[in-house]
Amino acid sequence: MAPCRSAGRHPPPLMETPMNIEIEEICKDFGTTAALQPVSLSIPAGSLVALLGPSGSGKTTLLRILGGLEFPSAGRVLFDGADATGLTVQERRAGFVFQSYALFRHMSVFDNIAYGLRARPRKTRPAAAEIARRVTRLLDLIKLPDIGGRYPSQLSGGQRQRVALARALAIEPRMLLLDEPFGALDAKVRKELRQGLRDIHDTTGLTTIFVTHDQDEAMELADLIVVMSMGRIEQIGRPAEIRARPASDFVRQFLDL
Ligand SMILES: Nc1ncnc2c1ncn2[C@@H]1O[C@H](COP(=O)(O)OP(=O)(O)O)[C@@H](O)[C@H]1O
Ligand SMILES: [Mg+2]
Repeated sequence: MAPCRSAGRHPPPLMETPMNIEIEEICKDFGTTAALQPVSLSIPAGSLVALLGPSGSGKTTLLRILGGLEFPSAGRVLFDGADATGLTVQERRAGFVFQSYALFRHMSVFDNIAYGLRARPRKTRPAAAEIARRVTRLLDLIKLPDIGGRYPSQLSGGQRQRVALARALAIEPRMLLLDEPFGALDAKVRKELRQGLRDIHDTTGLTTIFVTHDQDEAMELADLIVVMSMGRIEQIGRPAEIRARPASDFVRQFLDL
């Protein structure tokens, strides 16, 4: 059910109240491959969390399980204390950003961002004017206020990824999930977007989980880093804690400590 909103002078809040996420003993097998051994993790509401590890360590699998794109072989996921393990993608209301931009090429930037709201069933779909207001606010948030009329082919890689972020935020997500969101970009643009993501996180306050294999990115951006290897969590900690006290040889080597 949509929350009641007063029609006063103040615009409605741009984002939902952040939620906390509990991952309890999650396992995932693909045939004979154990992609995740039992993994447990608490994600505080409103935090910016990096899943950091080498290729094949299970980062994407864990992110997809959180978003409902994949289901665990065992274990539970809790959102604000309620069992969310069996919820569908739609029920979870996650905003997704992937490495490949996945924008609709035949749609303007404005229409790309509005897409998820327009695709809602009539009952929960905002009015056209409200959708337009929301898209305008999101274009401001990604610091590209004037590009609504452009098409994806007329944007740089960094701009496209900002639009992908705005599109993910348009649906009023309860959490933001990003899988190597800057992986396809060059070093300078990556750095800019890192700061952009940090700013957007601080503005929206959304619980945000991003996958990366880049230790600098995790160290610079995250409140909490989850270091993964071979389907297990090696260490969970704040960047400074991990730097000061790596929990294993693997962590020390992977982070060049
Ligand atoms: N759909 C799938 N089918 C079979 N094996 C998979 C599938 N998805 C992931 N895996 C395997 O699970 C392990 C973890 O993969 P993944 O979560 O993608 O790791 P990462 O994102 O850290 O690179 C790897 O061994 C990978 O080959
Ligand atoms: Mg991956």
